[in-house]
Amino acid sequence: MNIAVIGLTHKTAPVEVREKLSVPEEVREKATSHLCSYPHIQEATILSTCNRLEIYIVTSDTDNGVREVNQFLSEWSHCPLRQLRPYLFILLHQDAIMHLMRVAAGLDSLVLGEGQILSQVKRAHQLGQQYKGVGPILNRLFKDAIAAGKRVRTDTNIGTGAVSISSAAVELADLRINNLPNCRIAIIGAGKMSRLVVQHLLARNVQQMVIVNRTLERARELAQQFPEAEFDLHVMVDLLPVVASADLVFTGTAATEPILERDALAQVINNGRLLSIIDIAVPRNVHANVTELTQVQLFNVDDLESVVAQNQEARRLMALEAEAMLEEELANFNAWWHSLAAVPTIRCLRNKIETIRTQELEKALSRLGTEFAEKHQGVIEAMTRTMINKILHEPTVQLQADQDLASRQRAIQTLHELFNLDVVET
Ligand SMILES: NC(=O)c1ccc[n+]([C@@H]2O[C@H](COP(=O)([O-])OP(=O)(O)OC[C@H]3O[C@@H](n4cnc5c(N)ncnc54)[C@H](OP(=O)(O)O)[C@@H]3O)[C@@H](O)[C@H]2O)c1
Repeated sequence: MNIAVIGLTHKTAPVEVREKLSVPEEVREKATSHLCSYPHIQEATILSTCNRLEIYIVTSDTDNGVREVNQFLSEWSHCPLRQLRPYLFILLHQDAIMHLMRVAAGLDSLVLGEGQILSQVKRAHQLGQQYKGVGPILNRLFKDAIAAGKRVRTDTNIGTGAVSISSAAVELADLRINNLPNCRIAIIGAGKMSRLVVQHLLARNVQQMVIVNRTLERARELAQQFPEAEFDLHVMVDLLPVVASADLVFTGTAATEPILERDALAQVINNGRLLSIIDIAVPRNVHANVTELTQVQLFNVDDLESVVAQNQEARRLMALEAEAMLEEELANFNAWWHSLAAVPTIRCLRNKIETIRTQELEKALSRLGTEFAEKHQGVIEAMTRTMINKILHEPTVQLQADQDLASRQRAIQTLHELFNLDVVET
């Protein structure tokens, strides 16, 4: 068995490619079952965020497993593989394990050390389990990666003061727009990203904001979390008039199709004023054709890179410290992984001894005859079972705990020869 990850990230692909491959939660079950239906994929789960789409698999045949994921990605995005290939990365085993640990720790994020990715990795694990894509190996890998991510966050300062995509968006607005507190600001969406936008705008003395959301209830809940600010709440039917009367708009909904595009916007915007839109959603909420309107300046998540870069330098040293921790976590995972090599031998040895036990027990009981009560039979059955378990306990533990791969392999071989084991790999 081998572990592999195939995907693309903000480092390998621009937002217009990433959004084609996004796998929203509503379709995660379908996508996971599709992946698991391929003959060489034993386990699979999907990590889909605004900055990455990564498919983790356990495969019995690496070349074919990777080929099957490529085929899935091409079908999913309706893009020929030759068009996708330049954007994809493939990492195998050690590199795949280390990659997930780095991702969970926030070391592969656009914003180094940001915290949202850890909950997104947890969610990928949880949904993978729910949709039966995660088996024993990915389960252990994701648990270890999440523990590693938490450890990096608690034992280093990488998360301290780390910006999020939302705070970078607000910083970009502050850099591009004069006198932010006096701007008319609208936020489209009322989820996690929008909440962070509000929080960071407040930190920059913005007191008044308009929120437009699909459901008014969620917009109200968001507003209630910030009693110090003044909100004007709307639902989506008011989107265009709200945008038209704003100077600055943040869009952060989970809509899978654009909610703002050129023609609709052109009819409502005031020609005399500049409108700035910062779209932090992936798939993007604002169609790229909006850039054709001269009075609109549009930014997307990829435009945040320049803002983030200034913030990264101080974190690089902490990232080095974190990498050393992740090496230890990788070694722990590998110790567990290698211990799996002994499992078929242990299983075979147990089966063989269990067969001997039941045969001999049957013979002994038939010799003792019918006067031997059922209760006594139970006692003998339990005693023989306990004896076998106790005898096998120590060699089982030793075989799995041996850190030296060569010596473990020798011990496995010796067991095969001494007990004449015919091990079937499953
Ligand atoms: N979470 C992150 O770390 C992160 C980072 C960067 C970018 N992003 C991107 O930001 C966007 C929002 O993420 P989130 O984590 O804030 O999501 P979230 O907490 O699940 O909130 C989703 C928001 O989108 C609205 N929405 C969902 N489907 C919609 C549709 N079809 N039309 C209009 N509104 C719709 C929801 O409205 P209701 O309240 O009515 O359901 C809600 O306001 C996503 O595109 C995501 O990729 C997320």
